[in-house]
Amino acid sequence: MEQSKQSVRDTGDQAGGTSYHVVVREEDLSCFYPGMVRYIIEAKAGQEVLALSRTNSYEYSPSMPFSARQVAEERAASWEAELRADPDAFRRSHPAPSIPAGRDKGKGVVIIQGSPRAGGNSAILASWAAESARREGRKVEVIYPHDMDIHPCIGCYQCYNTGTCVFWDDMNGIIDAVAGCSLLVICSPVYTNTVPAGLKALLDRFMALHAEMTLGGDFPSRKGLLMAVAGREGHENFRCVREVIRAFFSLLGMTPLQPVLVDATDVIRDVTRVEGLEDRVKSLIRDNL
Ligand SMILES: Cc1cc2nc3c(=O)[nH]c(=O)nc-3n(C[C@H](O)[C@H](O)[C@H](O)COP(=O)(O)O)c2cc1C
Repeated sequence: MEQSKQSVRDTGDQAGGTSYHVVVREEDLSCFYPGMVRYIIEAKAGQEVLALSRTNSYEYSPSMPFSARQVAEERAASWEAELRADPDAFRRSHPAPSIPAGRDKGKGVVIIQGSPRAGGNSAILASWAAESARREGRKVEVIYPHDMDIHPCIGCYQCYNTGTCVFWDDMNGIIDAVAGCSLLVICSPVYTNTVPAGLKALLDRFMALHAEMTLGGDFPSRKGLLMAVAGREGHENFRCVREVIRAFFSLLGMTPLQPVLVDATDVIRDVTRVEGLEDRVKSLIRDNL
C-alpha cells in the first residue's frame, strides 16, 4: 500500500498557543482494487488527532456529481472553518477517533462447516477436525453459516473507511473468532462447481477484516485448511472451490495448507467409507496446531 500525497490546511495558532490544522492524506490502494484511492481527513491540535474521517473512490460511481477527492476537500474545508471559529466547540461535537490496533493471534481453532446438510460429509469432516483439536487441548469453535444471520455483502466499500461492515449481524462474532484463531478449517461440499451460497456469503463478508487490515495494526498470519467433498469422481471437480478458498486465504494473509479433497462422495456419510481418511484428517489437524 502506497501513501502518495498529503495536503495541510493550517488554521493558525489559537487559544493557549495550540496549533490547529486539518490534514488530507491520499492513499493509493490500487494494489488491492484497480484505481482505488482512499482519502484520510484528520483535524489535529499539534500531534493530537481530534477527528478522523475517511472516504474512498470506490464509494462513488462516475455518474455521481462529486468524487471522493471533492468530498474529502469539502470535509477538510468545513473542519477548518469550525476550528477557526471555535476549537473547543469542535472538540465537543466530534467524538474521539478510534483507530484499529490489529489483532492478536490466539491458539484456538475455528471450523466453518459450509454445508447446509446437517450430519453430511462436510459435517463429519468438521467433527473429526474438532475432535482432534479438542484432544490437544485447543478451544474449538464450529460455525454453521446456513444457520446464521449473515447478510450478503452489498459492495458499498464502506469497510475500507471504517474497518467494519455496515451490517451488524452474526458476522461480527465470526470475524472476531477467525481473527483470534491460529488455524481456520473450511469444510465445504462442491455446489455447482463452487461453494454453497451460505458459505459464499460468509467469505465475501470477510472483506471487512481485509479492510481493517489495510488501516494498520498487527495481523499475524494464521493457517488455513480446506477440506472439500464432491459427488462426482475426479479432482477437477474441486478446481473452482480450491481457487475460491485460495483467494480467500490469500486476501487475509493466511498460510494455506495442502487441502483434503474427497471426490465420488455423494451420499450422506460417504466419507466414513474412505479408508484411512479419519486418521489422515485428525493427524493433519494435530500437526498444524
Ligand atoms: C445443489 C447441489 C449442487 C451440487 N453440485 C455438485 C457439483 O457441481 N459437482 C459435484 O461433484 N458434486 C456436486 N454436488 C454433490 C455434493 O458435492 C455431494 O453430495 C456432497 O457429498 C455433499 O456434501 P455434504 O454431505 O457435506 O452436504 C452438488 C450437490 C447439491 C445439493
